[in-house]
Amino acid sequence: MNTNVWKVDKYVDKLESNPHIVDAAHFLRDNEVIALPTETVYGLGGNAESDEAVTKIFEAKGRPVDNPLIIHIADIAQLEQFTAEIPAKAEVLMDQFWPGPLTIIFKKKQGALSEKATAGLDTVGVRMPDHPVALALFRQCGLPIAAPSANSSGKPSPTTAQHVMDDLNGKIAGVLDAGPTGVGVESTVVDCTEEIPVILRPGGITKEQLEAAVGQVRIDPALTNTEGTARPKAPGMKYRHYAPNAPLYLVSGTRVFLQQLVEEKKQEGLRVGVLTTEEHTGEFDADVVFACGRRAELETVAAMLYDTLRKFNQSEVDVIFSEMFPTTGVGLAIMNRLQKAAGNKMISE
Ligand code: TXA
Ligand code: MG
Repeated sequence: MNTNVWKVDKYVDKLESNPHIVDAAHFLRDNEVIALPTETVYGLGGNAESDEAVTKIFEAKGRPVDNPLIIHIADIAQLEQFTAEIPAKAEVLMDQFWPGPLTIIFKKKQGALSEKATAGLDTVGVRMPDHPVALALFRQCGLPIAAPSANSSGKPSPTTAQHVMDDLNGKIAGVLDAGPTGVGVESTVVDCTEEIPVILRPGGITKEQLEAAVGQVRIDPALTNTEGTARPKAPGMKYRHYAPNAPLYLVSGTRVFLQQLVEEKKQEGLRVGVLTTEEHTGEFDADVVFACGRRAELETVAAMLYDTLRKFNQSEVDVIFSEMFPTTGVGLAIMNRLQKAAGNKMISE
């Protein structure tokens, strides 16, 4: 299949009549799948009402069929088509954080969406992304759009159209290229089907922000249980994810200790990579040292995380050591993704 790359400038007005967006909307209505930019990562969109389109999404990504997709909308009025009930706390969250990087889990209305999109669950995850190109596309086609991250299953999520092409060229009808995404990690998934909302996946909206809006919020205990004995409520969180090709170790300790680990591996004749931040690059002597944003501003780390993980593959290192980050604010999402990328391998001083 030829994969179209449609470049779109998100700052121009009249996105609704942009010919590339009009083309992409036609493909969606024809039950083809296309990649689209959001404020978090690129998504692989398809008609959420169609088994045919949803099957194409799972096949292009090589995604396990028990992992449900997030349904994307442009207008809150679309919600009642496929949700059974909208709790008061969900209303508050939608009001404050939509459009934005927050996915809310609702009880599902039966029969409205492809059963494959929700992996047969009786709940549905919904979000309204804060990206003018995505919103223009959804309005243009008028359908609820199922969209997982547009990477091959297991790889880091794509934050540029080039990342999408690296994984899915030839497998999808096209990609709307609106430049790099902003947030860099995926949306926060919050389950609002219980009285106290539960974070199933940390992401772009922080626990602190959610609590300021609705009071107490819990974190799915499986997320902090790194032995993997508890079963996460978001099916996707049980899979190894975001993994670079080389083994990645998170290093808890001083930077001097991290550099000692680098020396040991270099003496074994291995090519060693270090994931650090702009503040610390000068402190490491390794084959490849990547600065992933600025530690003082964790948002910049989130924005660059997946690109940095992908760059290690191009530089063909044998082993990677990474600094760790505080788990406040978006740091919770950063550490969650790094732990998954590392398969929970950690070395402590
Ligand atoms: O930022 C994002 O959320 C991106 C962009 C493209 O919107 N999308 C994304 O989708 O990250 P995906 O499919 O890569 O991750 C969706 C996560 C998975 O962990 C999945 O198991 C969980 O959300 N999920 C979806 N529906 C669910 C449900 N009904 N109950 C529990 N977890 C659900
Ligand atoms: Mg994903």
